[in-house]
Amino acid sequence: MKFFIDTANLAQIQEAQDLGILDGVTTNPSLIAREGIKGNVNIKQHYIDICNIVDGDVSAEVIATDFKGIIKEGEELAKLHPQIVVKVPMIKEGIKAVKYFYNKGIKTNCTLVFSASQALLAAKAGATYVSPFIGRLDDIGESGIDLVAQICHIYELHGFETQVLAASIRSQKHIIQCAAVGADVVTTPLAPILELLKHDLTDEGLAKFLEDHAKNNS
Ligand code: E4P
Repeated sequence: MKFFIDTANLAQIQEAQDLGILDGVTTNPSLIAREGIKGNVNIKQHYIDICNIVDGDVSAEVIATDFKGIIKEGEELAKLHPQIVVKVPMIKEGIKAVKYFYNKGIKTNCTLVFSASQALLAAKAGATYVSPFIGRLDDIGESGIDLVAQICHIYELHGFETQVLAASIRSQKHIIQCAAVGADVVTTPLAPILELLKHDLTDEGLAKFLEDHAKNNS
């Protein structure tokens, strides 16, 4: 399973990259806004800066919601850097654009996916990645993980090549659940990645080892 970080914060991307476990980055307009980056030129430069930190795919989202606008923005984004993946919303015009980009050899991430039917369409259109939003489904009392499992099952059954990119991750538990149901990728903020490291018995065990070493060498 690949690990993507879901942020536009360069320091956090660098921290995850330095851990040696990072396979890519996802961003969205809210994450870009959170960093205070404004204007097309600055936003595009920020995507290039991200690509220069990581080795893998970097999702950059279009703002347009009409076919022509999505194509124009997506082609501009794809030209920025070979690692850019064009992130397209799951809407009618978006699906048409995903198919267009597929035919042009441009990678896409179909985002804001909340049902298996949407995921089926994304795969049919040739999306490189499909992003079911786990946390936001949990928030409305549904099971995000069940949806990821269902999409993985359908894709496996029919041999779709679209990769299931589990998004809207809130905890290390989500990451483990995604791994258990066969997600191809998780995209997560830095905190749940760091939570994966943690176990009280590790901390207690290490403290004891260091204490015993100090006794023997004093
Ligand atoms: C996916 O690519 C999105 O950027 C992201 O995972 C959304 O997560 P949120 O629900 O925490 O905003």
